[in-house]
Formats: sequence, structure tokens, C-alpha cells
Amino acid sequence: AAITMLHRRDGARFPPDMTLSIQAKESTELPEMHQMMRQTCRDYADRELGPIAGKLDKEHLFPAQQVRELGAMGVMAIEVPEALGGAGMDYLAYSLAVEEISRGCGSTGCVVSVNNSLYIGPILKFGTQKQKEQWITPFTTGEKVGCFALSEPGNGSDAGAASTLARQEGEEWVLNGTKAWITNSWDASATVIFATTDKSLKHKGISAFLVPMPHPGLSLGKKEDKLGIRATSTANLILEDCRIPLGNMLGSRGSGFKIAMQTLDSGRIGIASQALGIAQAALDCAADYAHKRTAFGAPIGKLQAVQFKLADMAVAVESARLLTWKAAMLKDAKKPFTKEAAMAKLAASEAATFCGHQSIQVLGGMGYVTDMPAERHYRDARITEIYEGTSEIQRLVIAGQLLKEYAS
Ligand SMILES: Cc1cc2nc3c(=O)[nH]c(=O)nc-3n(C[C@H](O)[C@H](O)[C@H](O)COP(=O)(O)OP(=O)(O)OC[C@H]3O[C@@H](n4cnc5c(N)ncnc54)[C@H](O)[C@@H]3O)c2cc1C
Ligand SMILES: *[C@@H]1O[C@H](CO)[C@@H](O)[C@H](O)[C@H]1NC(C)=O
Ligand SMILES: *[C@@H]1O[C@H](CO)[C@@H](O)[C@H](O)[C@H]1NC(C)=O
Ligand SMILES: *[C@@H]1O[C@H](CO)[C@@H](O)[C@H](O)[C@H]1NC(C)=O
Repeated sequence: AAITMLHRRDGARFPPDMTLSIQAKESTELPEMHQMMRQTCRDYADRELGPIAGKLDKEHLFPAQQVRELGAMGVMAIEVPEALGGAGMDYLAYSLAVEEISRGCGSTGCVVSVNNSLYIGPILKFGTQKQKEQWITPFTTGEKVGCFALSEPGNGSDAGAASTLARQEGEEWVLNGTKAWITNSWDASATVIFATTDKSLKHKGISAFLVPMPHPGLSLGKKEDKLGIRATSTANLILEDCRIPLGNMLGSRGSGFKIAMQTLDSGRIGIASQALGIAQAALDCAADYAHKRTAFGAPIGKLQAVQFKLADMAVAVESARLLTWKAAMLKDAKKPFTKEAAMAKLAASEAATFCGHQSIQVLGGMGYVTDMPAERHYRDARITEIYEGTSEIQRLVIAGQLLKEYAS
């Protein structure tokens, strides 16, 4: 009965046989709590995000109301214990939520992922009880998002080379420097910033700091004009004698690089999930179109050339999904997951760019215009191979872990 229900719910949008097999398999595999999170986010994305995603993208609109609603649903602070105002769920739930939200709107998925993995993640893991209460429990209205400032104009992949300076003056830290590409920056009310207290120590000189926004000495650069995820804001964060109390250091002095790397390990599960959502949306769009469009007197879905594209897309999505779930489950089980998270991020982001590309091909001319969402999926997918470590950096991480396993 559950299968019929799910089938009927999505029946209008999916080829029926595909719906049956995908939904039946997955709904029996996931625990009930996770199925609920997934279904709730899927319904929300279908109802509230899908219909407006094109407009948000075209007009560069931050989905403020939707982010508030997702906050009320618990989706903006999934891993945060209920005592601190969060949903008190695990990373698998988070992964499912980000995938479904991103299926409706890749930009909104990015905002959800940054608040959860990049802003809350390090505070939850490395913050003192007092810092958690101050920076995690809604410190203003509970409608705000945070951001994560690691990259600089002169160093992204080489994050250990960060040169933003933090010097101690009496009871304060004084921050100076420029952080680059900071997602959510124009819409955020707090940030985790990475700065060095001693450049000669290289990555061991880096510490993490909590800074409210706006704040004296902190200003924002122009909003970057991006290829995709255009409903999110991305900008430089400029620090000129930005003073914060000594107590705003997160973790111990010199542990910033470790905090950043561990945050990105987890964050990559979020980006993998975002990529999965975009990939699935691209596949949905292509499969639906293959039923409706006729050429040479028959639906193009009858053409083997089109069927093979759909099959390849489905394999890419499903295998990346299993890798992503595995990484999330390892994290939830408190086992090492660095390699699996990098594998998930690499596979899912490449699945997303592949599916974005193939989806446009299946739609032909209609793939190339904004009347259909395929071109947005293609553009939104592209970033997932770049941020939180490029695909090249994921391969370095995977190979590094792999060789370590063989050496021992
Ligand atoms: C839209 C957007 C949002 C972002 N959001 C954030 C954010 O919120 N916070 C934040 O801190 N950063 C953010 N970033 C920055 C992002 O993480 C970096 O752009 C990314 O890490 C790559 O760094 P880079 O741009 O300096 O490229 P570079 O490091 O200069 O890399 C250029 C090329 O060289 C390759 N390369 C570099 N080093 C190696 C190596 N050792 N081996 C092999 N290949 C290598 C790269 O893979 C890439 O192909 C964002 C970026 C974008 C575009
Ligand atoms: C983002 O996370 C912070 C920290 O937990 C939380 O206070 C805030 O409410 C979240 N944002 C939204 C919109 O829910
Ligand atoms: C990192 O980038 C900044 C500019 O953003 C530059 O001043 C600095 O020299 C770079 N660090 C290294 C070690 O290259
Ligand atoms: C920090 O930046 C301010 C403003 O640009 C400048 O006056 C000051 O000398 C800088 N301090 C250091 C230590 O670089």
C-alpha cells in the first residue's frame, strides 16, 4: 500500500515503472525517521521550491522566506541537539534533506548546506558550551544564517597558505585581511573566519574565530555574478582592524586548519547531497520529456539513443547516492569517513555535471532555454565540482587515504 501511495503521489511527474522501482527499493531501505525527513523535504521542494526556482535564479533573489520556513521545519539545524534549538537528527537525515531541497532548487540546497555543515558544524564540534549557546541557539530571531570564511583571493585549494592576520591586543583579537568567495555573506549574521596568528608557522598558525555580522571593521565586497546557484550570495569578506573578544576563538590556538579540514570532511557529504539533488532533477526532467516529446512519429523515449542516456544518468545518480549514504552512515557511526566523503563528493558532483549535460541533450532545443529547468540544472551542477575542494583535491584526498591504508 505504501508503494502505491508513493507511486500515486509522484505519478504525475515520473515514468510509472521507474517510480515504482526507485521508491519501493529506497523506502524499504531507510529507517522511518529518515523516510519522513526525506518525504517532508520532497513535498516542500515540489510545492514551494520547484515552482519558483527559475525566478530566484533569474533575479538573483535570496530565498529568505523559504529559508525561514525550512528553519521552522528544523532543516537549517538538523544535527543540532533539541536542547540547543535544533532538530536533533543525524547526518543521514541531513543528507536526505539537502538532496530533496536541491532537487527543487540548487541554490536553496546550498544555503541549507552552508548553515548546517560549514557554520554549525565546527561550532558544534569544537565550541565550548557557552559558545554553542551563544552562536548556535538562535542569537537573534532564529531566522539568520551563518557563513564560513576560509578561502582567500590568493589561495583556495591551498587553504593552509591563508594570510589573513589575527593579532592579540589586550582583551581582543584584531583581524586583518580579505577572505574570498564567501557563500551566504550578504545574508549572514555570523561567520566562522580562519586567520593566522603566525604566518611563519604556515597551516599550524591558523586559528578559527567567531564574528557577528555586521561588525565594525568587517565589510563585504560586491556580489559575484555567477554561472549558477545564482540565488545565493557570494562575496569577499574584508577585515580591516576588525576587533572581537578573545573568547571568540573557536577551539585552541593553532587548531584552525584542523577545524577547517574536519569541517570540510563533513561538508562534502552536504555538497554530494546537493549534487545528487541537482542530478536527480536533471534526470527527472529528461525522463519526463522523453515520454512527452515525439519525433519521427513516436515518443523519443522509444529511441535507444535516448534510453541509453537515461540509463547512464540513473546509474551515475544511484551509485553516487549509495556512496553518499555510506559516508553519512560512517559519520553517524563515529567511524572514519574522510575517504568516503571525498568519494561521494567526487562521484556526485561528476554525476551532476554529467546529468546536467545529458538532460539538455535529451531536451534538444528546449534544453537550451529557460522555459525548462534543464539549463539551470546544468549551470547549478557546475559549482559542485569546485567548492569545498575541487574534483582534483578530492582525488588527492582519496589517493592519500588509500595509500595510507596500503602502507599500514
Ligand atoms: C560560488 C562559490 C562559493 C564558494 N563558497 C565558499 C565559502 O563559502 N567559503 C570558502 O571559504 N570558500 C568558498 N568558495 C571557494 C572555493 O572553495 C574555492 O574556489 C576552491 O577551493 C578552489 O580554490 P581556488 O578558486 O583558489 O582555485 P585554485 O586553488 O587556484 O585551483 C585552480 C585549479 O588548480 C587545481 N589545483 C590546485 N591545487 C592542486 C593540486 N594540489 N593538485 C591538483 N590540482 C590542483 C584546482 O583543482 C583547479 O582546477 C566558493 C567558491 C565559489 C566559486
Ligand atoms: C542557522 O543555524 C543557526 C545555528 O544553529 C540557527 O541559529 C539559525 O536559526 C539557522 N538558520 C535558520 C534560518 O534556521
Ligand atoms: C594567500 O593569498 C593572499 C592574497 O589573498 C596572499 O597575500 C598570500 O601571499 C597568499 N599566501 C601564500 C603563502 O601564498
Ligand atoms: C590592519 O588594517 C588597517 C586598515 O587597513 C591598517 O591601518 C593596519 O595597519 C593593519 N594592521 C596590520 C597589523 O596589518
